[in-house]
Amino acid sequence: MLEKLLLLQSCEGEIAVASGKRKPISLTVATAGPKDFSKSRALQPKAHRLIPGGAHTFAKGDDQYPEHAPAFISRGKGCHVWDFDGNEFIEFGMGLRAVTLGHAFEPVVEAAYKQMQLGANFNRPAKIEVDLAESMLEVIDGADMVKFAKNGSDVTTAAVKLARAYTGRDLVAICGDQPFFSTDDWFIGSTEMNAGIPQAVINMTLKFRYNDIESLRELFDRYPKQIACVLMEAEAVTPPIADYLMQVKKLCEARGAVLIFDEMITGFRWHLGGAQKYHAVIPHLSTFGKGMGNGFAIAALAGKREIMRLGGLDHDQKRVFLLSTTHGAETHALAATLETIRIYHEHSVVAFLWRQGEQLRGLVNQSIAENRLEGFFQLIGRPCNLVFETRDQDQNRSQAFRTLFMQELIRRGVLAPSFVVSFSHGDADIKRTAEAVSEAHIVYRKALDEGIDKYLEGRPVKPVNREFS
Ligand SMILES: Cc1ncc(COP(=O)(O)O)c(C=O)c1O
Repeated sequence: MLEKLLLLQSCEGEIAVASGKRKPISLTVATAGPKDFSKSRALQPKAHRLIPGGAHTFAKGDDQYPEHAPAFISRGKGCHVWDFDGNEFIEFGMGLRAVTLGHAFEPVVEAAYKQMQLGANFNRPAKIEVDLAESMLEVIDGADMVKFAKNGSDVTTAAVKLARAYTGRDLVAICGDQPFFSTDDWFIGSTEMNAGIPQAVINMTLKFRYNDIESLRELFDRYPKQIACVLMEAEAVTPPIADYLMQVKKLCEARGAVLIFDEMITGFRWHLGGAQKYHAVIPHLSTFGKGMGNGFAIAALAGKREIMRLGGLDHDQKRVFLLSTTHGAETHALAATLETIRIYHEHSVVAFLWRQGEQLRGLVNQSIAENRLEGFFQLIGRPCNLVFETRDQDQNRSQAFRTLFMQELIRRGVLAPSFVVSFSHGDADIKRTAEAVSEAHIVYRKALDEGIDKYLEGRPVKPVNREFS
C-alpha cells in the first residue's frame, strides 16, 4: 500500500523505499544551460513591495541565492521542485530541512487531509494530542512529558523560560559556535542583528565554545548560581570529542543548571530520537521541530517531569506560562507527525538518509579530487546533514565562490543551499546531482585559476544574520 503511494509521489528518479525495492522511473530533470526566470523576476519587485525582504523567512530570501536563481517555487513532489517559470530542480535541504520524507508525500498528506475533515481545532483538546504525545515520548529517551507548538523558536524559548522558573536564575548559556536557536530576543540579542532588543536582555545570554568544557566551566565560575540553563545542539557540523557531552551534563548538574539540547536539525535525522539518542547523553529538556511533520508546522518541547510539570496543574509553585497557543495542537499537523513517525519506523528512514548522504559524499569527493579542489571546496557534517564549505584562491571562506557553485548547480537543474538529503532522494537523483557537481567544479576550478569575476554573474550571497543590508 505504502509502496503504491510512494510510486505516486515519487514522480522522478527512483522510488525512495528504504525496504530496498526500487523501481527506476524516467528522470525528467531539466538539462544544463541558462534558464528562463523572467516570470519570477517580474514578480520580485511586488514581493519586496509587499513583504519586508520579499520572503517570510530570511533563509529563503533573494540575498541567499545567486541572481540567476528560481525566485519562487510553485510546487514540489518528492525531492523535485518546479519554479514559477516552470523550471524543474532536484532540491536539497527542502523546506529549511523540515521536509525529511519528500514534498507532497502522499501518506502524510492523506493522514493530514483525513484529520482536517474531522476538524482542525476545538474548545477542548483533541484525542490525537494524547496519541502523538505518547508516540513522541516513545522515541525520546528519558523524556516524561511533551508539549507541542508550531515553531522551533517557540519551544526553545519555552525551554529557556521553564529552566529560569525551575532554577530561579536569569542567565542563559548558549553554544556560541552554533548558528541558530530561536527568533526570540534572548537569542537574537546575541547575534549581529540585534536592533530593537534591549541591552538588558542582550546581557542575559552568555556564550561558551563547543568541545571546550573549560569555556563552560569559566562561565559557571564567573556567574556563580546565576546560570539557569545550558542550551546547545549536541552536534552541529563538528562531532563532539570523547565524553564532551557527558561532561557538559555533569557540569550542569554540579552547578544546578538545566541542560537543554536543541534537536531541531538532529531530531529525526541523526536518529529518530535525536542526537541525544545517537550519543547516548540524555538532557533534562530537549526541543524538536523540523522533520517531525514532514513540513507541517509542528514543534515539541520534551523533558523531565520534575521540570515540565511547572507548566501543568499538579503543583503548588508559581505557574509557568508554558506554550499555550491557539494553534499549537492543530490536529492535521499532529496527524501528519504521527504518520511521519510511523513511516520512519516502518522504512528505516534514518538509515536511508545516512546511506544516500554517504553515497553523494563519495561522488562529490571524487569530483573534488579530479578538479584539484582540496582546500577550496569541502563537504562537512554527517552524511544525513551534509553542507558545503567554499574557499577562494587564498583558501579563505568565500561567499562569492558559494554563489558561483550554487549558480552552476542551478544551471544544471539542482537547487542546493546544502546537500541535506531526504527519503525521496533516490539513487538516480544522487547520480544526477553528482554529475551537476562535477560540471560545477570544473567552472569553480577555472574561476580559481582565472578570477571569479569572469564566471560569477551578479553579486555574491550574504550571511543571513548581519547588522546591515
Ligand atoms: C537549531 C535550530 N534551532 C531552532 C530553530 C528555530 O526553528 P523555527 O524556525 O522553526 O522557529 C532553527 C531554525 O532554523 C534551528 O536551526
